[in-house]
Amino acid sequence: MKKTIIVTGGAGFIGSNFIFHMLSTYSEYRIICLDKLTYAGNLSTLQSVMDDPRFRFVKADICDRAAVYKLFEEESPDMIVNFAAESHVDRSIEAPDVFLQTNIMGTATLMDACRKYGIERYHQVSTDEVYGDLPLDRPDILFTEDTPIHTSSPYSSSKAAADLLVFAYHRTYGIPVTVSRCSNNYGPYHFPEKLIPLTIANALTDKELPVYGDGLNIRDWLYVEDHCKAIDMIIHNGRVGEVYNIGGHNEKTNIYIVKKILDIIGKPESLIKYVTDRKGHDLRYAIDPTKIHNELGWLPETMFDDGIEKTVQWYLDNKEWWENIINGEYRDYYKKMYGDR
Ligand code: NAD
Ligand code: TYD
Repeated sequence: MKKTIIVTGGAGFIGSNFIFHMLSTYSEYRIICLDKLTYAGNLSTLQSVMDDPRFRFVKADICDRAAVYKLFEEESPDMIVNFAAESHVDRSIEAPDVFLQTNIMGTATLMDACRKYGIERYHQVSTDEVYGDLPLDRPDILFTEDTPIHTSSPYSSSKAAADLLVFAYHRTYGIPVTVSRCSNNYGPYHFPEKLIPLTIANALTDKELPVYGDGLNIRDWLYVEDHCKAIDMIIHNGRVGEVYNIGGHNEKTNIYIVKKILDIIGKPESLIKYVTDRKGHDLRYAIDPTKIHNELGWLPETMFDDGIEKTVQWYLDNKEWWENIINGEYRDYYKKMYGDR
């Protein structure tokens, strides 16, 4: 069956992986990537699909109502999957404004377009961070879809606001929505400001590896392809009006992650530098994926030991991709964030 899907934020980490997954899985689907190309968006990431007749790239801001409406008129999409967001917690602590603008107002603009032109499915890519954090000493507690929203950072608050708006549009205007809340992803094309790609890039270039606080905060890591497959299942078979948590029971402390990467690359632990903690630093995230498993049959396929090896190998094989980034405006960001931390 033919479908046209607008993927917003598809020049970023997860959106690009989702585009690759969809084009290789559904031969008759047309995928339109709408992306503003902020510092986090990279057109070279999409190079391999640019000439595919089933793919179109449109540079636009999801907050730009005229551009979004024009695209809906041109393409009459069946579905929209919204990945576009400001996504880095540390940047949200420095400058919240753009997070509120893109993550909340941008979502509202996309939903208004769905209301005006109609849509078969609007999918909001949310995050487990909307649930706040869990205690370190209670491994028995996990985030379920019923865990109250209780955010910590401007980033997570803006994502939670967007989720609430999505459900308001569902209830008030009857827009057929789904929302997924995933744990931390890792894999190819991950922007090197986040823990795993930053650690890999720094280790490969013999730079210090900044670890916030005591390094004992816990994240629940999922290989990006498994996240993309889960979204594919939700947009096709998920129940309208529902939230689905996505995560792979893979909780690790930050220091474990950093040491694991050093071990794979064969660099010394003396590169580790403990630095001032993040403000409001969430202690632990952990997802209970029972609902998506029971309803849609989703299970993670890539185990962490394999996924992290593959990821390191990808950064070794694609040096040009991340060297271009770390030699650009990222340098100023890095100096500002880590200069005298
Ligand atoms: P990313 O920062 O790598 O990519 C974001 C993309 O959105 C970029 O291509 C950027 O150019 C684009 N963008 C930003 N503002 C835009 C705007 N106003 N209009 C159009 N495009 C815009 O992010 P990511 O890590 O790929 O995350 C994608 C989504 O998944 C986000 O909504 C994020 O909240 C969510 N999420 C991420 C993770 C994770 O571990 N990375 C986990 C759970 C959920
Ligand atoms: P990050 O990759 O920014 O994802 P998130 O904050 O959305 O979970 O950070 C993952 C964890 O790693 C988080 O606990 C903060 C920590 N961290 C460091 O210790 N050092 C770093 O340089 C970065 C970027 C993160």
